[in-house]
Amino acid sequence: MNTRRVCIVGWPVEHSRSPIIHGYWLDKYAIDGSYTRRPVAPGTEASFFGRMREEGFVGCNVTLPHKQAALAAAHASTEGARAVGAANTLWFEGARLWADNTDGAGFLQHLAATVPAFAAAASAVAILGAGGAARGVIHALLTAGVGEVRLFNRTRDRAEAVARHFGGRVKAFNWQDRADRSREVGLLINATSLGMQGAAPLHMPLAQLEDGCVVADLVYVPLETPLLAAARARGLAAVDGLGMLLHQAVPGFTRWFGVRPEVTDELRAILVADLEGR
Ligand code: ATR
Repeated sequence: MNTRRVCIVGWPVEHSRSPIIHGYWLDKYAIDGSYTRRPVAPGTEASFFGRMREEGFVGCNVTLPHKQAALAAAHASTEGARAVGAANTLWFEGARLWADNTDGAGFLQHLAATVPAFAAAASAVAILGAGGAARGVIHALLTAGVGEVRLFNRTRDRAEAVARHFGGRVKAFNWQDRADRSREVGLLINATSLGMQGAAPLHMPLAQLEDGCVVADLVYVPLETPLLAAARARGLAAVDGLGMLLHQAVPGFTRWFGVRPEVTDELRAILVADLEGR
C-alpha cells in the first residue's frame, strides 16, 4: 500500500505543532503515513486545495489564514464547519473533498477530561473574543446544551454579528462590562489573543466569579497564562489551551489513517517540552 500523505496548510506554518502530534501517533500505531508542513501563500490556497489529490494527499489540516477558503473549496461539509464558517480538517471520500471544524469539539473534550463535573446544560458561559476561535467554541457549547453564552468583545459590532449568527442563546455585551456581567457564569473562556506570548496582557478580574466557576484559556503559549495562574490562585478550576490542540487532532487522524488515536499524558508531555524549548 502507498504511504498515506497528509499535511498542514497555512501561512506561516512553521510554528504549527500538529506535525509533532500526528508524527507521534503515526509512530505509535506503526502506520505507513506522513504528516508535513505545507506553506501556502495567500491567493494560492484555492489552487492548492484543487490539486491536493493529484499531489497525493489524502487530506490536510488547515490553519490561518486559510480556514474559510478551505470550507469554500470543499465539495461537502459537516454541519459544524458550516455553522462556524471555517474548516480545519479536510479529507477525501472517493473524489469528494469533505470539510469539518474540530476545534470546538476538541475544546469540549478537553474540558470534560479536565473538569468531569462540569455540566454544560446547567451553565451560562462567558466568552471573551468574537473571532474564529470563539465561533468554534460557541458552536460546540450550544450543541452541548449550554443555555446562555455571554459574548464580550472589544469591537462590539463583531460580537453582535456572532450573536445574530448563532441566535437567541448568544448575547453580546460591552467589553467594559466583562467583570460585572460574568458574576454567575459556570465557565469563563478567553478566546482572544490577549495573554499570548508577545501580545498585550488580558485584564480580567476574577474576584467576582462564583467558587465553582471554571476558567479556560485557548492561548497555549505560554501554557500557564496569567489568566490561568490567577484562576488557580483564586481556587478555581483552570483549563489550558493545549488540550484543545491535542483533541482537535483526533478526528482528522481517524479519517486519514483509520485508527482512532489516544491523547495520552506522554504526548502532552512531549508538546509541553517543545513549547518550553526543552
Ligand atoms: P482567531 O480566529 O484566532 O479568533 P481573530 O479573529 O483575529 O483570531 O480574533 C482575535 C480576538 O482577540 C478578537 O476577538 C479581538 O477583538 P476585536 O474583534 O475587537 O479585534 C481580540 N483582541 C485582539 N487584541 C485585543 C485587544 N488588545 N483588546 C481586546 N481584544 C483584543
